[in-house]
Amino acid sequence: MAKLSTDPYKGVRDFYPEDKFVQNYIFSVWKKIPELFGYEEYDASILEPSEIYREKSGDEIVNEQTFTFTDRGGREVTLRPEMTPTLARMVAARKRDLGFPLRWYSIPNLFRYEATQRGRLREHWQLNVDIFGISNISADIEIIILANKIMEVFGAKQSDYEIRLNTSSEDEAPLNNVISELNKSGIMNARVDRTLARGQAYYTGVVFEFFDTDPKNPRSLLGGGRYDNLLEIFGGELVPAVGFGMGDVTIRDFLETHNLLPSYKPTTNLCIIPTDLMLVDELVKLLMSLRMSGVNVAVDWSDRKVGDMIKSADKNRIPYVLVFGEDEVKTGKYKVKNLKSGEEKTLKKEEIPSFILNF
Ligand code: HAM
Repeated sequence: MAKLSTDPYKGVRDFYPEDKFVQNYIFSVWKKIPELFGYEEYDASILEPSEIYREKSGDEIVNEQTFTFTDRGGREVTLRPEMTPTLARMVAARKRDLGFPLRWYSIPNLFRYEATQRGRLREHWQLNVDIFGISNISADIEIIILANKIMEVFGAKQSDYEIRLNTSSEDEAPLNNVISELNKSGIMNARVDRTLARGQAYYTGVVFEFFDTDPKNPRSLLGGGRYDNLLEIFGGELVPAVGFGMGDVTIRDFLETHNLLPSYKPTTNLCIIPTDLMLVDELVKLLMSLRMSGVNVAVDWSDRKVGDMIKSADKNRIPYVLVFGEDEVKTGKYKVKNLKSGEEKTLKKEEIPSFILNF
């Protein structure tokens, strides 16, 4: 039988725990900052009727980059290449019931049939932050300040990236105002770039991108702008809107390039290594009490040599191990070992949680 490849599909990623750890870290900042600015989370399916991208998502995305198929009922379906049309559809559907200004964010996974390269994959996650219902530049400024706050919380210095602004109108004055307002908020790395062009056709005003200044990672970290007419594809009244999308691939590359990634820590705190599986009743009592106190505990049930079990725990980077056998049951004292430092401490059951969780 021919052996199957273990590679993922071209241009998509597997997330091993180390990768998921990084992604969760990125998502935690992506949730914290929009919420700090009063934005609520929304979500939708990855499947959309193909027609919602046809007019406004830009020729390259629609004609060359969508994963589109016909379903069994003859409908044309697309895996979403971006979130903005979905968001516009959701807002248009409930326009009368929603309170404006409406501040929403989401972290969808998106699919684009790209020629894959560094920073460009076929599936990525993208933070989307959008505000609806404000036609003056206060909204554009708020959105850029919010995006900048995310960079700051990731630990980036202003010299690490540049904010490039342009406008689809002839009038450069909505632009200089934006820059002077950003300056007032201490944001000094914004400049007008008349060559900046966005891929989508729906932008109507200020557009912007945050660009990595390191030559190793010459990529746009996020992009967005004002799109006051997108709701017209759904009929009814227009609602002015401005927002941006920030990708997880490019921000991860950015954090790596600038040495800003936190190092991996598994969520498991402790691995118990039983030397005698006959003692399971006593072991379960210990497990229950540790878990009640909030310690994340795994047990190695493999019944191998103690040394091999400790090696496995170490491979998975579990910080603490506890060898559990007859002595421990008899004395009610447990040796807890920190695998990294080698430090070992003998503790009573009730002392273990505070030692491991450092409180
Ligand atoms: P976009 O410029 O197409 O805008 O994408 C925004 C960001 O998503 C890019 O700056 C990049 O970080 C990331 N990105 C895009 N395509 C890929 C890819 N193939 N692989 C990895 N990362 C990628 C939009 O999608 C707009 N809908 C954003 C928006 C929201 N405008 C208003 N609201």
